[in-house]
Amino acid sequence: MAFMSASDNKTILISGGAGFIGSAFVMHMLSSHPNLRIINVDALTYAGNLENLQSLEQEDRHVFVHAKIQDTELMHSLCEQYDVEGMINIAAESHVDRSIHDASPFIDTNVQGTLSLLTVARNLKLKKYVQVSTDEVYGSLELNSQGVFTEETPLAPNSPYSASKASADMFVRAFHHTHDVPTVITRCSNNYGPRQFPEKLIPLMILNAMESKPLPVYGDGMNVRDWIHVQDHCNAIWLAYEHGKPGEVYNIGSDNEWSNLHIVHSILALLGKSTDLIHFVQDRPGHDKRYAIDASKAKRELHWKPNISFEQGLRETIQWYQEHPEWCEHILNGQYRDYYSKQYQRER
Ligand code: NAD
Ligand code: DAU
Repeated sequence: MAFMSASDNKTILISGGAGFIGSAFVMHMLSSHPNLRIINVDALTYAGNLENLQSLEQEDRHVFVHAKIQDTELMHSLCEQYDVEGMINIAAESHVDRSIHDASPFIDTNVQGTLSLLTVARNLKLKKYVQVSTDEVYGSLELNSQGVFTEETPLAPNSPYSASKASADMFVRAFHHTHDVPTVITRCSNNYGPRQFPEKLIPLMILNAMESKPLPVYGDGMNVRDWIHVQDHCNAIWLAYEHGKPGEVYNIGSDNEWSNLHIVHSILALLGKSTDLIHFVQDRPGHDKRYAIDASKAKRELHWKPNISFEQGLRETIQWYQEHPEWCEHILNGQYRDYYSKQYQRER
Protein backbone atom coordinates (compact mmCIF):
# COMPACT_ATOMS: atom_id res chain seq x y z
CA MET A 1 0.00 0.00 0.00
CA ALA A 2 1.49 3.36 -0.99
CA PHE A 3 1.43 6.07 1.64
CA MET A 4 -1.04 8.75 0.58
CA SER A 5 -0.56 12.43 1.16
CA ALA A 6 -4.11 13.26 2.18
CA SER A 7 -4.28 15.95 4.83
CA ASP A 8 -4.99 13.60 7.73
CA ASN A 9 -1.91 11.51 6.92
CA LYS A 10 1.33 12.49 8.54
CA THR A 11 4.91 11.37 8.84
CA ILE A 12 7.06 11.79 11.92
CA LEU A 13 10.71 10.96 12.48
CA ILE A 14 11.54 9.13 15.65
CA SER A 15 14.98 8.12 16.87
CA GLY A 16 15.93 5.08 18.92
CA GLY A 17 13.03 2.98 17.68
CA ALA A 18 14.90 -0.32 17.94
CA GLY A 19 15.40 0.12 21.67
CA PHE A 20 13.07 -0.70 24.54
CA ILE A 21 10.83 2.39 24.68
CA GLY A 22 11.28 3.33 21.01
CA SER A 23 10.14 -0.06 19.69
CA ALA A 24 7.12 -0.07 22.02
CA PHE A 25 6.29 3.42 20.78
CA VAL A 26 6.59 2.56 17.06
CA MET A 27 4.52 -0.62 17.32
CA HIS A 28 1.82 1.01 19.41
CA MET A 29 1.56 4.14 17.27
CA LEU A 30 1.41 2.31 13.95
CA SER A 31 -1.28 -0.06 15.16
CA SER A 32 -3.42 2.66 16.72
CA HIS A 33 -2.92 5.39 14.05
CA PRO A 34 -3.66 4.04 10.55
CA ASN A 35 -2.73 7.35 8.89
CA LEU A 36 0.64 7.70 10.56
CA ARG A 37 3.99 6.87 8.94
CA ILE A 38 7.14 6.62 11.06
CA ILE A 39 10.71 7.15 9.89
CA ASN A 40 12.66 5.24 12.52
CA VAL A 41 16.33 6.20 12.83
CA ASP A 42 18.44 3.93 15.00
CA ALA A 43 22.21 3.37 15.17
CA LEU A 44 21.73 -0.22 16.42
CA THR A 45 24.14 0.10 19.33
CA TYR A 46 24.33 -2.81 21.77
CA ALA A 47 20.86 -1.66 22.99
CA GLY A 48 19.23 -1.59 19.56
CA ASN A 49 17.55 -4.84 18.57
CA LEU A 50 15.74 -5.28 15.27
CA GLU A 51 14.05 -8.39 16.62
CA ASN A 52 11.96 -5.92 18.63
CA LEU A 53 10.48 -4.72 15.34
CA GLN A 54 10.00 -8.11 13.70
CA SER A 55 6.21 -7.68 13.56
CA LEU A 56 6.64 -4.61 11.31
CA GLU A 57 8.69 -6.18 8.54
CA GLN A 58 5.78 -6.01 6.07
CA GLU A 59 4.54 -2.61 7.27
CA ASP A 60 4.97 0.10 4.59
CA ARG A 61 4.25 2.85 7.09
CA HIS A 62 7.43 1.93 8.97
CA VAL A 63 10.68 3.07 7.35
CA PHE A 64 13.75 1.87 9.24
CA VAL A 65 16.98 3.80 8.73
CA HIS A 66 20.22 2.46 10.20
CA ALA A 67 22.04 5.69 11.09
CA LYS A 68 23.28 7.91 13.89
CA ILE A 69 21.24 10.95 14.80
CA GLN A 70 24.52 12.92 14.82
CA ASP A 71 24.48 12.69 11.00
CA THR A 72 22.78 16.07 10.58
CA GLU A 73 22.93 16.06 6.80
CA LEU A 74 21.19 12.69 6.56
CA MET A 75 18.56 13.68 9.17
CA HIS A 76 17.86 16.81 7.11
CA SER A 77 17.50 14.92 3.85
CA LEU A 78 15.30 12.23 5.43
CA CYS A 79 12.95 14.91 6.71
CA GLU A 80 12.78 16.48 3.26
CA GLN A 81 12.46 13.17 1.41
CA TYR A 82 9.58 11.93 3.56
CA ASP A 83 7.93 15.28 4.21
CA VAL A 84 8.38 14.87 7.96
CA GLU A 85 6.03 16.93 10.13
CA GLY A 86 7.89 16.64 13.44
CA MET A 87 10.40 14.66 15.48
CA ILE A 88 10.47 12.64 18.67
CA ASN A 89 13.99 12.06 20.00
CA ILE A 90 13.99 8.79 21.95
CA ALA A 91 17.53 7.64 21.08
CA ALA A 92 20.08 7.75 23.87
CA GLU A 93 22.80 5.98 25.70
CA SER A 94 20.51 5.08 28.58
CA HIS A 95 22.35 3.05 31.21
CA VAL A 96 23.79 4.74 34.32
CA ASP A 97 26.38 2.02 35.05
CA ARG A 98 27.84 2.30 31.54
CA SER A 99 28.09 6.09 31.92
CA ILE A 100 30.12 5.59 35.10
CA HIS A 101 32.51 3.36 33.17
CA ASP A 102 32.82 5.70 30.14
CA ALA A 103 30.89 8.93 29.66
CA SER A 104 32.06 9.73 26.11
CA PRO A 105 29.32 7.91 24.13
CA PHE A 106 26.80 9.74 26.31
CA ILE A 107 28.12 13.10 25.12
CA ASP A 108 28.14 11.94 21.49
CA THR A 109 24.60 10.60 21.37
CA ASN A 110 22.73 12.39 24.13
CA VAL A 111 24.21 15.87 23.67
CA GLN A 112 25.66 16.03 20.14
CA GLY A 113 22.82 13.90 18.75
CA THR A 114 20.17 16.13 20.32
CA LEU A 115 21.90 19.22 18.96
CA SER A 116 21.89 17.64 15.50
CA LEU A 117 18.14 16.92 15.55
CA LEU A 118 17.37 20.36 16.97
CA THR A 119 19.35 21.95 14.14
CA VAL A 120 17.29 20.06 11.57
CA ALA A 121 14.03 20.92 13.34
CA ARG A 122 15.08 24.56 13.30
CA ASN A 123 16.24 24.70 9.69
CA LEU A 124 13.17 22.92 8.34
CA LYS A 125 10.77 24.71 10.70
CA LEU A 126 9.25 21.41 11.83
CA LYS A 127 5.89 21.56 13.57
CA LYS A 128 7.00 19.88 16.81
CA TYR A 129 10.14 18.51 18.46
CA VAL A 130 9.71 16.22 21.48
CA GLN A 131 12.70 15.41 23.66
CA VAL A 132 12.24 12.23 25.69
CA SER A 133 14.17 13.05 28.83
CA THR A 134 14.23 11.55 32.30
CA ASP A 135 13.41 12.30 35.93
CA GLU A 136 17.08 11.63 36.73
CA VAL A 137 17.97 15.17 35.60
CA TYR A 138 16.47 16.41 38.89
CA GLY A 139 19.00 14.45 40.97
CA SER A 140 18.01 12.55 44.09
CA LEU A 141 15.38 12.88 46.83
CA GLU A 142 15.91 11.82 50.43
CA LEU A 143 14.62 8.40 51.45
CA ASN A 144 11.46 8.57 53.59
CA SER A 145 10.85 12.21 52.64
CA GLN A 146 7.58 13.48 51.17
CA GLY A 147 9.44 15.36 48.42
CA VAL A 148 8.59 14.93 44.74
CA PHE A 149 10.08 16.27 41.51
CA THR A 150 7.95 18.94 39.83
CA GLU A 151 8.78 20.66 36.54
CA GLU A 152 10.13 23.57 38.64
CA THR A 153 12.62 21.41 40.55
CA PRO A 154 16.13 22.66 39.68
CA LEU A 155 18.22 20.30 37.56
CA ALA A 156 20.89 18.57 39.66
CA PRO A 157 22.12 15.52 37.75
CA ASN A 158 24.36 13.16 39.71
CA SER A 159 25.55 10.58 37.16
CA PRO A 160 27.34 11.14 33.84
CA TYR A 161 24.18 9.73 32.18
CA SER A 162 21.86 12.23 33.84
CA ALA A 163 24.39 15.04 33.28
CA SER A 164 24.27 14.30 29.53
CA LYS A 165 20.45 14.21 29.54
CA ALA A 166 20.26 17.49 31.51
CA SER A 167 22.71 19.04 29.09
CA ALA A 168 20.52 17.94 26.17
CA ASP A 169 17.47 19.43 27.92
CA MET A 170 19.31 22.75 28.20
CA PHE A 171 19.95 22.76 24.44
CA VAL A 172 16.28 22.01 23.84
CA ARG A 173 15.33 24.92 26.06
CA ALA A 174 17.83 27.22 24.32
CA PHE A 175 16.62 26.28 20.83
CA HIS A 176 13.08 27.13 21.84
CA HIS A 177 14.09 30.40 23.47
CA THR A 178 16.55 31.55 20.80
CA HIS A 179 15.28 29.99 17.58
CA ASP A 180 11.60 29.50 18.40
CA VAL A 181 11.74 25.74 17.74
CA PRO A 182 8.42 24.29 19.04
CA THR A 183 10.00 21.96 21.59
CA VAL A 184 8.42 19.87 24.35
CA ILE A 185 10.38 17.92 26.96
CA THR A 186 9.01 14.86 28.79
CA ARG A 187 10.71 13.64 31.98
CA CYS A 188 9.58 10.16 32.93
CA SER A 189 10.37 7.83 35.82
CA ASN A 190 11.69 4.24 35.56
CA ASN A 191 10.03 2.20 32.80
CA TYR A 192 9.48 -1.55 32.76
CA GLY A 193 7.79 -3.91 30.31
CA PRO A 194 8.51 -6.35 27.46
CA ARG A 195 11.76 -6.12 25.42
CA GLN A 196 13.78 -4.15 27.97
CA PHE A 197 17.49 -4.85 27.67
CA PRO A 198 18.56 -7.03 30.62
CA GLU A 199 21.11 -4.59 31.95
CA LYS A 200 18.30 -2.75 33.76
CA LEU A 201 16.99 -3.89 37.14
CA ILE A 202 13.68 -5.59 36.30
CA PRO A 203 14.64 -7.62 33.19
CA LEU A 204 18.03 -8.56 34.69
CA MET A 205 16.37 -9.88 37.82
CA ILE A 206 13.68 -11.74 35.84
CA LEU A 207 16.19 -13.46 33.54
CA ASN A 208 18.58 -14.35 36.38
CA ALA A 209 15.75 -15.66 38.54
CA MET A 210 14.38 -17.74 35.65
CA GLU A 211 17.81 -19.40 35.37
CA SER A 212 18.30 -19.57 39.16
CA LYS A 213 21.36 -17.33 38.90
CA PRO A 214 22.35 -14.81 41.63
CA LEU A 215 20.39 -11.53 41.71
CA PRO A 216 22.91 -8.68 42.30
CA VAL A 217 21.33 -6.03 44.54
CA TYR A 218 23.41 -2.84 44.90
CA GLY A 219 24.15 -1.67 48.47
CA ASP A 220 21.35 -2.42 50.92
CA GLY A 221 18.64 -2.53 48.23
CA MET A 222 16.71 0.31 49.86
CA ASN A 223 17.00 2.84 47.00
CA VAL A 224 13.57 3.78 45.72
CA ARG A 225 12.33 4.19 42.14
CA ASP A 226 8.89 5.13 40.75
CA TRP A 227 7.96 2.43 38.20
CA ILE A 228 5.77 3.01 35.16
CA HIS A 229 4.73 0.60 32.40
CA VAL A 230 6.34 1.47 29.05
CA GLN A 231 2.92 1.59 27.36
CA ASP A 232 1.76 4.34 29.70
CA HIS A 233 4.96 6.29 28.94
CA CYS A 234 4.40 5.88 25.18
CA ASN A 235 0.88 7.28 25.47
CA ALA A 236 2.28 10.31 27.29
CA ILE A 237 4.96 10.88 24.63
CA TRP A 238 2.31 10.94 21.90
CA LEU A 239 0.06 13.32 23.83
CA ALA A 240 3.09 15.57 24.39
CA TYR A 241 3.71 15.52 20.61
CA GLU A 242 0.09 16.25 19.76
CA HIS A 243 -0.91 18.62 22.55
CA GLY A 244 2.23 19.69 24.45
CA LYS A 245 2.68 23.44 24.58
CA PRO A 246 5.92 24.62 22.90
CA GLY A 247 8.61 25.43 25.45
CA GLU A 248 7.00 23.32 28.17
CA VAL A 249 8.23 20.38 30.25
CA TYR A 250 5.94 17.55 31.38
CA ASN A 251 6.81 15.10 34.14
CA ILE A 252 5.49 11.55 33.66
CA GLY A 253 5.17 9.06 36.51
CA SER A 254 2.87 6.50 38.07
CA ASP A 255 2.90 7.24 41.84
CA ASN A 256 4.36 3.78 42.22
CA GLU A 257 7.40 3.93 44.49
CA TRP A 258 9.15 0.77 45.60
CA SER A 259 12.55 -0.12 47.02
CA ASN A 260 14.75 -2.25 44.79
CA LEU A 261 14.61 -5.02 47.37
CA HIS A 262 10.81 -5.02 47.25
CA ILE A 263 10.94 -5.34 43.44
CA VAL A 264 13.37 -8.25 43.65
CA HIS A 265 11.25 -10.03 46.28
CA SER A 266 8.13 -9.56 44.11
CA ILE A 267 9.85 -11.05 41.05
CA LEU A 268 11.12 -14.04 43.04
CA ALA A 269 7.66 -14.61 44.52
CA LEU A 270 5.94 -14.44 41.10
CA LEU A 271 8.46 -16.92 39.69
CA GLY A 272 8.28 -19.19 42.74
CA LYS A 273 12.04 -18.86 43.38
CA SER A 274 13.97 -18.68 46.65
CA THR A 275 15.18 -15.41 48.20
CA ASP A 276 18.51 -17.21 48.67
CA LEU A 277 19.25 -16.04 45.10
CA ILE A 278 19.57 -12.44 46.35
CA HIS A 279 23.21 -11.32 46.51
CA PHE A 280 24.04 -7.92 47.98
CA VAL A 281 26.92 -6.45 45.95
CA GLN A 282 28.99 -3.27 46.04
CA ASP A 283 26.88 -0.13 45.66
CA ARG A 284 26.79 1.95 42.47
CA PRO A 285 29.05 5.03 42.91
CA GLY A 286 26.93 8.16 43.49
CA HIS A 287 23.79 5.98 43.64
CA ASP A 288 20.67 8.21 43.68
CA LYS A 289 18.53 7.35 46.70
CA ARG A 290 15.01 8.06 45.58
CA TYR A 291 13.05 9.38 42.61
CA ALA A 292 9.39 10.45 42.84
CA ILE A 293 7.41 12.30 40.21
CA ASP A 294 4.56 14.78 40.41
CA ALA A 295 2.79 14.17 37.07
CA SER A 296 -0.18 16.44 37.77
CA LYS A 297 0.72 18.88 34.98
CA ALA A 298 0.64 16.13 32.32
CA LYS A 299 -2.66 14.86 33.75
CA ARG A 300 -4.16 18.33 33.75
CA GLU A 301 -2.83 19.72 30.47
CA LEU A 302 -2.34 16.62 28.30
CA HIS A 303 -5.28 14.66 29.77
CA TRP A 304 -2.89 11.77 30.32
CA LYS A 305 -3.13 9.12 33.00
CA PRO A 306 -1.41 5.79 33.56
CA ASN A 307 -3.67 2.81 32.89
CA ILE A 308 -1.63 -0.24 33.87
CA SER A 309 -1.37 -1.23 37.53
CA PHE A 310 2.04 -2.40 38.72
CA GLU A 311 0.61 -5.71 39.87
CA GLN A 312 -0.78 -6.49 36.42
CA GLY A 313 2.17 -4.95 34.55
CA LEU A 314 4.85 -6.85 36.43
CA ARG A 315 2.95 -10.15 36.12
CA GLU A 316 2.51 -9.67 32.36
CA THR A 317 6.12 -8.56 31.92
CA ILE A 318 7.44 -11.71 33.60
CA GLN A 319 5.07 -13.76 31.47
CA TRP A 320 6.40 -12.03 28.32
CA TYR A 321 9.99 -13.03 29.12
CA GLN A 322 8.85 -16.58 29.89
CA GLU A 323 7.00 -16.80 26.58
CA HIS A 324 9.88 -15.41 24.48
CA PRO A 325 12.83 -17.71 25.17
CA GLU A 326 14.29 -16.99 21.70
CA TRP A 327 14.42 -13.24 22.29
CA CYS A 328 16.12 -13.85 25.65
CA GLU A 329 18.53 -16.40 24.22
CA HIS A 330 19.54 -14.13 21.31
CA ILE A 331 20.26 -11.30 23.76
CA LEU A 332 22.25 -13.53 26.06
CA ASN A 333 24.35 -15.13 23.28
CA GLY A 334 24.70 -11.89 21.28
CA GLN A 335 22.88 -13.31 18.24
CA TYR A 336 20.42 -10.39 18.26
CA ARG A 337 23.18 -8.24 16.80
CA ASP A 338 23.24 -10.32 13.59
CA TYR A 339 19.55 -9.77 12.95
CA TYR A 340 19.31 -7.42 10.01
CA SER A 341 16.70 -8.83 7.68
CA LYS A 342 16.48 -7.84 4.03
CA GLN A 343 13.32 -5.87 4.78
CA TYR A 344 15.39 -3.39 6.75
CA GLN A 345 18.42 -3.12 4.46
CA ARG A 346 18.49 0.34 3.00
CA GLU A 347 20.86 1.80 0.43
CA ARG A 348 22.57 4.91 1.73
P1 NAD B 1 17.54 1.82 25.15
O1 NAD B 1 18.97 1.87 25.59
O2 NAD B 1 16.77 0.57 25.31
O3 NAD B 1 17.44 2.23 23.60
C1 NAD B 1 18.15 3.28 23.04
C2 NAD B 1 18.07 3.15 21.52
O4 NAD B 1 18.76 4.28 20.95
C3 NAD B 1 18.76 1.90 20.97
O5 NAD B 1 17.93 1.29 19.99
C4 NAD B 1 20.03 2.43 20.33
O6 NAD B 1 20.50 1.65 19.25
C5 NAD B 1 19.60 3.82 19.90
N1 NAD B 1 20.73 4.75 19.78
C6 NAD B 1 21.73 4.95 20.66
N2 NAD B 1 22.58 5.87 20.19
C7 NAD B 1 22.08 6.29 18.99
C8 NAD B 1 22.49 7.24 18.02
N3 NAD B 1 23.60 7.97 18.20
N4 NAD B 1 21.73 7.43 16.94
C9 NAD B 1 20.61 6.69 16.74
N5 NAD B 1 20.18 5.76 17.62
C10 NAD B 1 20.91 5.56 18.72
O7 NAD B 1 16.86 3.05 25.89
P2 NAD B 1 15.38 3.15 26.49
O8 NAD B 1 15.37 2.60 27.85
O9 NAD B 1 14.41 2.68 25.48
O10 NAD B 1 15.27 4.74 26.65
C11 NAD B 1 14.84 5.53 25.56
C12 NAD B 1 14.83 7.00 25.98
O11 NAD B 1 13.99 7.18 27.09
C13 NAD B 1 16.20 7.54 26.40
O12 NAD B 1 16.31 8.85 25.91
C14 NAD B 1 16.15 7.56 27.91
O13 NAD B 1 16.97 8.57 28.42
C15 NAD B 1 14.68 7.86 28.14
N6 NAD B 1 14.11 7.33 29.39
C16 NAD B 1 14.26 6.01 29.69
C17 NAD B 1 13.66 5.52 30.85
C18 NAD B 1 13.78 4.06 31.24
O14 NAD B 1 13.42 3.72 32.37
N7 NAD B 1 14.26 3.19 30.39
C19 NAD B 1 12.93 6.38 31.69
C20 NAD B 1 12.82 7.73 31.34
C21 NAD B 1 13.40 8.19 30.17
O1 DAU C 1 14.45 7.21 36.22
C1 DAU C 1 14.53 7.02 34.85
C2 DAU C 1 15.79 6.27 34.51
O2 DAU C 1 15.61 4.94 34.96
C3 DAU C 1 16.13 6.31 33.03
O3 DAU C 1 16.42 7.62 32.66
C4 DAU C 1 17.34 5.41 32.73
O4 DAU C 1 17.56 5.35 31.34
C5 DAU C 1 17.05 4.02 33.25
O5 DAU C 1 18.20 3.22 33.05
C6 DAU C 1 16.67 4.05 34.73
O6 DAU C 1 17.81 4.41 35.55
P1 DAU C 1 18.12 3.61 36.92
O7 DAU C 1 19.56 3.76 37.22
O8 DAU C 1 17.16 3.98 37.98
O9 DAU C 1 17.76 2.12 36.42
P2 DAU C 1 18.45 0.71 36.65
O10 DAU C 1 17.51 -0.32 36.12
O11 DAU C 1 19.86 0.68 36.16
O12 DAU C 1 18.49 0.58 38.22
C7 DAU C 1 17.31 0.67 39.00
C8 DAU C 1 17.71 0.55 40.46
O13 DAU C 1 18.17 -0.79 40.69
C9 DAU C 1 18.86 1.46 40.86
O14 DAU C 1 18.64 1.89 42.19
C10 DAU C 1 20.09 0.55 40.81
C11 DAU C 1 19.52 -0.80 41.19
N1 DAU C 1 20.19 -1.96 40.57
C12 DAU C 1 20.35 -1.98 39.23
C13 DAU C 1 20.96 -3.05 38.61
C14 DAU C 1 21.16 -3.06 37.11
C15 DAU C 1 20.60 -3.04 41.36
O15 DAU C 1 20.42 -3.03 42.59
N2 DAU C 1 21.20 -4.10 40.75
C16 DAU C 1 21.42 -4.15 39.40
O16 DAU C 1 22.01 -5.14 38.90
